[in-house]
Amino acid sequence: METRTIIITPEQMHAQDGYCQRIRELWSQRGITPTAYVETYGCQQNEADSEQIRGLLENCGYSICNQAEGADVVVFNTCAIREHAEQRVFGNLGALTHTKRRHPSQKIFLCGCMAGQEHVAQRIRRSYPHVDVCFNPHHLWQVPEYLWRVLNRKERVFATEEVPGVIAEGLPQRREGKIKAWVSIMYGCNNFCSYCIVPYVRGRERSRKPEDVIRECRYLIEAGYKDITLLGQNVNSYGKDLGLGVDFADLLAEIAQIPGEFTLRFMTSHPKDASFKLFDTMSKYPNIAHHFHLPVQSGNDRILKEMNRHYDRAQYLKLVEYGRSVMPDIVFTSDIIVGFPGETEEEFEDTLSLCDQVRYDALFTFIYSPRKGTPAASMPDPTPKEEKNRRFDRLLDLQNRISMEKHRDYVGKTVRVLVDGTDGDLLTGRTDGGRLVRLPGDPEKLMGQFIPVHITGCTTWSLTGEPV
Ligand code: SAH
Ligand code: SF4
Ligand code: F3S
Repeated sequence: METRTIIITPEQMHAQDGYCQRIRELWSQRGITPTAYVETYGCQQNEADSEQIRGLLENCGYSICNQAEGADVVVFNTCAIREHAEQRVFGNLGALTHTKRRHPSQKIFLCGCMAGQEHVAQRIRRSYPHVDVCFNPHHLWQVPEYLWRVLNRKERVFATEEVPGVIAEGLPQRREGKIKAWVSIMYGCNNFCSYCIVPYVRGRERSRKPEDVIRECRYLIEAGYKDITLLGQNVNSYGKDLGLGVDFADLLAEIAQIPGEFTLRFMTSHPKDASFKLFDTMSKYPNIAHHFHLPVQSGNDRILKEMNRHYDRAQYLKLVEYGRSVMPDIVFTSDIIVGFPGETEEEFEDTLSLCDQVRYDALFTFIYSPRKGTPAASMPDPTPKEEKNRRFDRLLDLQNRISMEKHRDYVGKTVRVLVDGTDGDLLTGRTDGGRLVRLPGDPEKLMGQFIPVHITGCTTWSLTGEPV
């Protein structure tokens, strides 16, 4: 498999700084502070990318605003994981014709995973003439250059050609919030699960150097961030491409030893690469959250094979069992696809029985959505949509019952919570295992603090409590 990674050089980054400067000068000659709006669809990886896009736009002199109306630049950072995600983007993109009519100099950028598909780029070219720039995730670092081009020439920019993969270090970042931070440790995916578009739109797996990741984490911890999530499509294969003898568990251990009060999280883990060593590392360092998001996708071995997942039900259950043996309080969550092509009723019931056996704290459930160019999209899929909806509802009912039971077990206990938000008059926070907690309290005093909370009540989705 091709693993050639393109590392963006300091000279190339410096050239982008040059564009930033020219754009800042252009606006200051006009005596205007321009505004930019970035809308994010999809996963945390995209959230992290959007923080870099905002950072680059700020370097170009733009002030970040929170609506498309009136903004000088609008960026849609898109997701291609399911049909529904793409339809939402096309709908919202259509609506931008009106904002642009009212503000004709507005520049519209479409980027992210949708822009990694040639058929999408073609549709944008043909049917969305108000989109000025369309680029895939490999070209994110070139935002200043593209912006300069559309401000100065009446041309559209399309940078959607496929490349194996890019790593650009040292990009500015405008982080949302001061408590939680995302840190991408790797990009892309090599797994080619048969239903999934990600490897096609994000390129081959490539890891950032351990020292770059550790430096970023140390900076965040010193800046007072309390909750750090390491991101990758499959963090368990971190480092394999670097040949340094550093695996994900090693990286996690290094970061956990940085001085300061913080919780360390990570996602996502592919069960085929999750190791006992990783569970051991988690149990050894008290600041690594006892939460494991371990997407199983299906509980049936034939379907897992058709999905190209490279593990079976028994191997998966062994991982869960080992995790619980070293951390009895570990929280497992998972992703499940219902209605994969050819899934029979009995095969679906294997998924139900697996969920019943594992008893996840929470599940992210999806109805299979065919993605153009993936192997599963050309598999026969005779199951009617209504039947898939019925299966989906059965799974949801089961999980809601389990989540409720799990949440009831918290009532009467005292747990450590990081307060990180508000909901009406109440504060909100997360337990180590990522459970949402609502509690009364003074935001001035408690925001960003780890505090013990006595749990007094619960719903299927959240807990309520009182600070101790
Ligand atoms: N890298 C992660 C998942 C990224 S996508 C992993 O391997 O676990 C997040 C979830 O979207 C997947 O776990 C899967 O459950 C779901 N998903 C991906 N492609 C899908 C498709 N074509 N239809 C429905 N759900 C899909
Ligand atoms: Fe998609 Fe599979 Fe890669 Fe996850 S591991 S991003 S599901 S191909
Ligand atoms: Fe979507 Fe791309 Fe993430 S397809 S789920 S935004 S990696």
